[in-house]
Order: sequence, then structure tokens, then C-alpha cells
Amino acid sequence: MRKKLIAGNWKMNNDLNSSIELAKSISTGIKKDFLNNTDILICPTFISISKVFDSVKGSGVSVGAQNMHFKDDGAFTGEISAEMLISAGCEYVILGHSERRQLFHETNHLINLKLKKALKSGLIPILCVGETLEQREEGIHEKIVDEQITFCLKEISKVEISKVVIAYEPVWAIGTGKTASPEQANQMHNNIRNSIANLYGNDFAQNIRILYGGSVNDKNASELFSQPDIDGGLIGGASLKPNQFLTIIENASK
Ligand code: PGA
Repeated sequence: MRKKLIAGNWKMNNDLNSSIELAKSISTGIKKDFLNNTDILICPTFISISKVFDSVKGSGVSVGAQNMHFKDDGAFTGEISAEMLISAGCEYVILGHSERRQLFHETNHLINLKLKKALKSGLIPILCVGETLEQREEGIHEKIVDEQITFCLKEISKVEISKVVIAYEPVWAIGTGKTASPEQANQMHNNIRNSIANLYGNDFAQNIRILYGGSVNDKNASELFSQPDIDGGLIGGASLKPNQFLTIIENASK
């Protein structure tokens, strides 16, 4: 039985003080039984990670980062390593988000290097995949996502794959208010599970968590999470609103 995961991706929002405030509103609103079958994660900006980690300690909320570099250390101005993230309290790292792919030109190859480094360091990577609107309209969305999965997971072993979380986020649904229908999302999750089965075998495919992301909110969460292949969500906008985020978590934990 796969445990659900609800991850908040705060993107480039909130300064240090408002990050701490938001983290506290979320952690104090969590009811014990939410945690029985759901993992909860928040991903603030780099500068807030350490203080946010301190402020949610003991609440069951984990902290993650939105990106990292694949090298151990060195002359990489402006970059952050996996070890630095771990030392600040991170358990997870989001990799290959579509905003990183589109605005910062990250390729499947680069994401693969980051994924390997995250796993080697003991971080749980959340690998993001998803097609653009044009690709869906052209009917190549399944092929594109399968390629992203295959390239990003290159040389990842069976032992390592069991630690990876995948997030399917159709680019056309991110921050647009348009969500994939529960059936559309589930279909793609099922395809992703088949891609994993082809690479690692069915047991691994059945155990891997696949999150849906793209305009998830307190109204549509319940229907999305009731789909058999959807194991939680990667939440952007709604994770900045504590009440909405808590309702989403509550829906996942039912
Ligand atoms: P959204 O963002 O929920 O605001 O659409 C999701 C994401 O980018 O991870």
C-alpha cells in the first residue's frame, strides 16, 4: 500500500519571516490522523529552509528544496549542493520542475545528474515530468513523458528507484487554473507506472509514488486523490494558503 504524499512547492514566494509564519500555520493545523497514511512536505526558498525546519520540528512536516546542483562543492556561483540542503534540514528535493526546464533550460541529462547526486546523498528526489499543451494537442504527450522518465532515470539502480517520487505535472495545468481531469491524470499515471514496470519490473512500479500537480486546490483534490494511480499532489499556489493546503492534506488522508 503506497503512502500518500502532499508536497507544497512555494516557488519564489515569501521572505524569511512570512515563510516561518506560513510553516507554523500549516504545522499547527495538522491533525494527528492526517499523518497515519499521508506524508507532508513543504519546500520553501533556499534561504528559509533552515528556519522553517526549526519551526516545524516535531510536527511531522518534512522540509525540502526546489532545486540543487549535482556537484559536491566548488566554483559554481549561486548554486547549492545536496549536502548543504541536508545540513539545513532537507529530506526531499524537487528536480526537473517544468519551470526549471522551460525558464532555466534544464535538460533530461542535467536532471539525471542531479537525481543521481540526490540519491547518493540520501535526499528523496521528486522527479517532475509533464507535457506542454502543444505536445498534448499533437498527441505525443505519452511519448514525451515516457522519454522524460527513461532519460532522467538512466543508470538509477533498483535499490535507488524505490526512493524516488515522480510528479506528473502537465505544463498547461500549472498555475493556469486548468486541471487535468481525474481520468486524464490517472491515465498518464498509469502510463508512467508501465514505463517504470518496463525499466524495473512490476513490483517496483506498484510501489513507486506518483503525485499529480497542476492547479490542485481544496475543491478538486478529493476527486483527483480518489484515482487508483494518484498518490498525492505537488501543490503550488494552494500551498501558500494554509487553510487550502490543510484541506488538501485532509482529503489525501481519507
Ligand atoms: P500550481 O503549481 O499548483 O500553482 O499549478 C504546481 C507546481 O508547479 O508544482
